[in-house]
Amino acid sequence: MCGIVGVIGVPNAPEVLLAGLAKLEYRGYDSAGLYVNDQAGHDFLVKRVGRISALEAAVDASVQGTMGIGHTRWATNGRPTLANAHPHVSADERFYLVHNGVITNAAALQAQYLQGVTLASDTDTEVVVQLIAVFAQTGLSAKAAFRRALQLIEGSYAFCLVDRLDPSTLFVAKNQSPLLIGVGTGFNVVASDALAMLDQTDQFIALADHELVTLTATTVRIEALDGTPVVRAPQTVRLTDGDAELGAYPFYMLKELNEQPTVLRRLLARYTADGQVQLPAAVLQALQAADRLYLVAAGTSYHAGLVGKPLFEQLAGVPTEVHLASEFAYHQQLMAAKPLLIFLTQSGETADLRQVLLKAKAEGWPTLTLTNVASSTLAREADAALSLAAGPEIAVASTKAYTAQVALLAILAQGLGVAQAQPAAAAFNVAHQLSLAASGQAQLIDQAPRLHEAAQHLFTGATRAFYIGRGTDWLVSLEAALKLKEISYIQAEGFAAGELKHGTIALIEADTPVIAFITDPATAAHTRSNAAEVAARGAQVLRIASAALAEPGDQLRLPDLDACLMPLLTVIPAQLLAYFASLDRGYDVDRPRNLAKSVTVE
Ligand code: AGP
Repeated sequence: MCGIVGVIGVPNAPEVLLAGLAKLEYRGYDSAGLYVNDQAGHDFLVKRVGRISALEAAVDASVQGTMGIGHTRWATNGRPTLANAHPHVSADERFYLVHNGVITNAAALQAQYLQGVTLASDTDTEVVVQLIAVFAQTGLSAKAAFRRALQLIEGSYAFCLVDRLDPSTLFVAKNQSPLLIGVGTGFNVVASDALAMLDQTDQFIALADHELVTLTATTVRIEALDGTPVVRAPQTVRLTDGDAELGAYPFYMLKELNEQPTVLRRLLARYTADGQVQLPAAVLQALQAADRLYLVAAGTSYHAGLVGKPLFEQLAGVPTEVHLASEFAYHQQLMAAKPLLIFLTQSGETADLRQVLLKAKAEGWPTLTLTNVASSTLAREADAALSLAAGPEIAVASTKAYTAQVALLAILAQGLGVAQAQPAAAAFNVAHQLSLAASGQAQLIDQAPRLHEAAQHLFTGATRAFYIGRGTDWLVSLEAALKLKEISYIQAEGFAAGELKHGTIALIEADTPVIAFITDPATAAHTRSNAAEVAARGAQVLRIASAALAEPGDQLRLPDLDACLMPLLTVIPAQLLAYFASLDRGYDVDRPRNLAKSVTVE
């Protein structure tokens, strides 16, 4: 999941590319580079290992251009070294290429077509740029050589290619990885995400798989690989640049964590009126037509899906399964007669989910995507899509998207339940509950200083931690552990409290941090026993309980809310504990090592 940008027809190409890359850094930050050409015989290639800031420092005033391409990398094939940084150059220094994706037959292509060509890197991308040069050396035009290479390669790609002999043109191609064309007046841009080029234009054309684009400063020509012209009008992307600004916050994660109450209220405004759920007719029909729901997701979104299962089953009476996309895609499930696949994805570009979507389309299963990016692949290619309306989520650690997904699932569950005349849905008031959740989240966010102290007490010097709970408290434990792991690098596990004693309790030793969530009335006493069991073995226990179930000694009390929506409150201390653990360790909270925001490779 790298970020790529391109521009043609501006006087300040380096500046436009660097600004775009800075907005895409969440997609990967192992190395970065750009190639610019002034279309008057001068060109520049600058690459650096590490963050965009290193590249910015290297691009001085001497680097000029009116067109060019840029790339920020999350390493897949080949370590994050200067040689592996993009743009990659053909041996004859004619072609420059940036790529997001994975070419699965690169080795075979290299063996068949590139004998005698010495590769300068370990990347699959370089194989493609060398291939293009070899085909061009046989007399093919740059476009024909590019097309020939595209017809041979297998795997996912978003490409931007420059032919040094013809810098009046940018060549672009896409398969599975996201890529958009931004249409300007007298110039055009290319980006993995519209966010990167919003300060240039709000008119974007999303590309479909296996499309090839020839871009000049004033023209956009889209065609299928077989040469069939494609006509597609630009869409206005309504995101304002300000949505993605950091403001006064030290990190995007803290900003986005603080935005969660607003996100809940925005969802209520969008999907309810006068306390009643209002869903697009096609979505409600799809939900009503299904005899089983399949929530498909990855990471934090999967954890949100786990909370959605009891919501749909209790409020709408519909059997619901939750699956990891990477497993569902390749392991045949025994499917119901009338399934509905619901994809939960902040980015709308997660490759694991896209594989399931392709399988669903092949099988004729109905699909619905809940995503935060309206122009994303999974939004465009599913039968229907609903917005999480959370605003751009830049921090790699997902916070407000989790809240939005749990809330939207609750809204769908109530809407379906009411449509099916389910008594539980009639008795449940999701608008009121989500409004209470928004207030409760705000109260808990205000207790951030207390959570900072708790994080210091629990995690200073810690190498492992456990979150435990039962029912939905167990489900949130999984999300709490992921948050802590991915930004503080503390090995953490979310564990069913009752299961700990069946083996894993052997890991508990003096001062092992254990956070117990106690909001489920049916199991509160049992979870307290489990917390006592680990305390008896030396664990440092933090008990977080709902007010109705709180007992003396509990370190944090959560406002009361319907038990099935308590994850919206429990997750706040979990997010804050992780944030402060990472902050106190001096890590880049927003861009943790080895990760990227949008995982567009399987
Ligand atoms: C969550 O904090 C992680 N960044 C990661 O698990 C993420 O939720 C996962 O990659 C799924 O992303 P998506 O919601 O964009 O599909």
